[in-house]
Amino acid sequence: MSANSPAAVVVLAAGGGTRMKSNSLPKVLHEVCGRSLVGHAVAAAQELTPQQLVVVVGHMREMVQEHLGAHYPAARAVVQEEQKGTGHAVRTALEALAADGVELDGTVIVTTGDAPLLTGATLAALAGAHAEQGNGVTVLTAVVPDPFGYGRILRDEADGAVASIVEEKDASDAQRAVDEINSGVFAFDAKLLAEALSRVTTDNVQGEEYLTDTLEILRTAGHRVGAVVAADYRDILGINDRVQLAQARRLLNDRLLERAMRAGVTVVDPATTWFDVQVSYEPDAVVLPGTQLQGLTHLGEGCEVGPNSTLKDTRIGAGARVSNTTADGAEVGDFATAGPYAYLRPGARLGRKAKVGTYVEVKNSELGEGAKVPHLSYIGDATIGEGSNIGAASVTVNYDGVNKHRTVIGAHCRTGSDNMFIAPVTVGDGAYTGAGSVITGDVPPGALGVSRAQQRNIAGWVERKRPGTASAQAAAAATDGAAEV
Ligand code: UD1
Ligand code: CA
Repeated sequence: MSANSPAAVVVLAAGGGTRMKSNSLPKVLHEVCGRSLVGHAVAAAQELTPQQLVVVVGHMREMVQEHLGAHYPAARAVVQEEQKGTGHAVRTALEALAADGVELDGTVIVTTGDAPLLTGATLAALAGAHAEQGNGVTVLTAVVPDPFGYGRILRDEADGAVASIVEEKDASDAQRAVDEINSGVFAFDAKLLAEALSRVTTDNVQGEEYLTDTLEILRTAGHRVGAVVAADYRDILGINDRVQLAQARRLLNDRLLERAMRAGVTVVDPATTWFDVQVSYEPDAVVLPGTQLQGLTHLGEGCEVGPNSTLKDTRIGAGARVSNTTADGAEVGDFATAGPYAYLRPGARLGRKAKVGTYVEVKNSELGEGAKVPHLSYIGDATIGEGSNIGAASVTVNYDGVNKHRTVIGAHCRTGSDNMFIAPVTVGDGAYTGAGSVITGDVPPGALGVSRAQQRNIAGWVERKRPGTASAQAAAAATDGAAEV
């Protein structure tokens, strides 16, 4: 907590979000770049290290409270039973703090739970200007191409200071022509805020307590009302419907990709590349088109991921290559390779220079340094030692219908194609297995494990049993018309 950290940040998130047309998810839990809308607001607020961090919840509040508890335990949820306006919401938050004996002294930031592009830096700039100018309240505004629906900023003609905010529904035609709008984000002096809120009425078209009325109240009482105009209006965009949700996702993604590129990551096609906010990377990583990096995914130096890969909570080592791959909770070692068409599930750990090839699924398994599973296989609950090679189309048969069992394959093994390893089973270091084997018992180090029937050929079978077919004719031509005996 720094010396000039705000006394409180209040995030307003109680509204219904009716325009999202969602039956199952409150607006503020919709996601943008791996974080809920309210999560973005809380994360930005936390950058200011406020003494109190309050989220006002109402609509579908159980879900919102559970989400906050699970991901943002530092945030205190305050319930606004009925959504009687933004002023009422802030008043409810302040009253809940007061009831807990918290006396606010200093700056209170009010922000909204539906503006995911708003950064901690913007909030800090607002708080900084508020303190520097000695304002009673400072509003974050923006000049927008289409002000419809927003509260308009009305400035004093003489001194240009903010005089009041008028809501769309309460505005005259002349006021509606104003293109400077209220972002819904403010810095207040705590004491003045409480005082002004006690004087807000419901005398407006919507019959609500408007937080925005506090500006005129404070100005009339002789306090300074300041404004910070956002450098880019898109930073304050609020989400009301799913079209805006997609627009915000695109804008935030562009911002995340730009940051990555400036840090030395090559993004070949920004239009089809998606990063979550917590993705991290080292220089010279290359991201090919159609790639989504989610959660805590990390790209090591000089690795190459994509095209067409979705990697969630996955660590990609330096110099590794991952193409056309879906991964979740996996680790790909330095200079290891996965794909094309690999599926790495939680607990898949590929050692240095290991290889998981085409149509291979790996779950909860370790591959040692240089170990290879090149083709068409399932490796689940297994340990494969360094330098071993697993033949094509092999399966670790880990599930007996009730329990899962482990397969352990030692170092420098060569297992044949189309092997079934019936777990629990162990193949010793340096062992081989024959193609087509069902390995039900342990194979000692250096042994050849083989379990398959002897082949037998029934001569002339096709010409006798399938006469007149193309196969029979081909066989006849190959044997000069004489069935082999
Ligand atoms: C509000 C502002 C408007 C501003 C706009 C910016 C007021 C009166 N109007 O309008 O000037 O341009 O935001 O997006 O403040 N909320 C509650 N409890 C309530 C009502 C709202 O928590 O009783 C929350 C909502 O969940 C939302 C935020 O407050 O996060 C804003 O509410 P909303 O209804 O979207 O206000 P707008 O009409 O958009
Ligand atoms: Ca709104």
